[in-house]
Amino acid sequence: MIFQALFRSVVIIYFLTPGDDCVEIIGGKNVRPHSKPYMASIQLRKRHVCGGILIKPGWVLTAAHCNLKFKHQNIEVVLGTDSLSRDKDKSAQRIAVKQKIPDLCYDDKTFENDIMLLQLQSEAKLNNFVQVLPLPKNDCDMEEGTICTVVGWGKTNVNINRPSDNLKEVNVTIMNRTKCNSQMYYNNNPAITMNMLCAGDRNGGRDSCQGDSGGPLICENKLQGIVSFGEKCGLPDRPGIYTRITEYIQWIQEITA
Ligand code: ARG
Repeated sequence: MIFQALFRSVVIIYFLTPGDDCVEIIGGKNVRPHSKPYMASIQLRKRHVCGGILIKPGWVLTAAHCNLKFKHQNIEVVLGTDSLSRDKDKSAQRIAVKQKIPDLCYDDKTFENDIMLLQLQSEAKLNNFVQVLPLPKNDCDMEEGTICTVVGWGKTNVNINRPSDNLKEVNVTIMNRTKCNSQMYYNNNPAITMNMLCAGDRNGGRDSCQGDSGGPLICENKLQGIVSFGEKCGLPDRPGIYTRITEYIQWIQEITA
């Protein structure tokens, strides 16, 4: 009897765990059509691998760890479409990547410096559907409680292993680093440093997930972060971790100048 009741509650708790049963990015919704004209899908053999951000007509910003998924193969970026399957739409532009420039200090153990620039073979044509997202100017840190938006084609459900066809967005809240590193959360393993932002949802269920990497975290209408990593997706005690862009402005400007 006791075992049966225990088993039942374990099953119920399993299915109620946030992130395990939530729909969209994780817990988000489709973006308003063409409202994120800077969004890039980075593709390997026509398949979405990572998100990216068009910051100049010839340059896309993404995460350095995406490089591990490309393994020296040629990649392309797709701009101007919310839907991955509608990449033949007139608004869509598919452009080959000429050069991948990861931050040379990217560390796949600590996840430090998870940022990469992609130089496009030819410049994107800017129009209503394709626009650049400017880099932030100030370098003030995001305060705890700031509401930000993360955008991507990543998994909408941890149990489904494919990207979302339509671009999604969800709001997440900045958590301070001390809390994010505390025992209840990442416990400094890995350490969430000044080069990173921690953002999630107190109740879980709202997060980025696999396939969202490289995409933007936008706070107060400014680009502040790049989707980097997280333990599972949508867990209340494991927020998403984002590369803090303001720490890399100079590096980006030097390379893209
Ligand atoms: N590393 C993942 C990717 O390659 C992104 C994971 C983000 N995870 C999270 N729980 N916020 O797409």
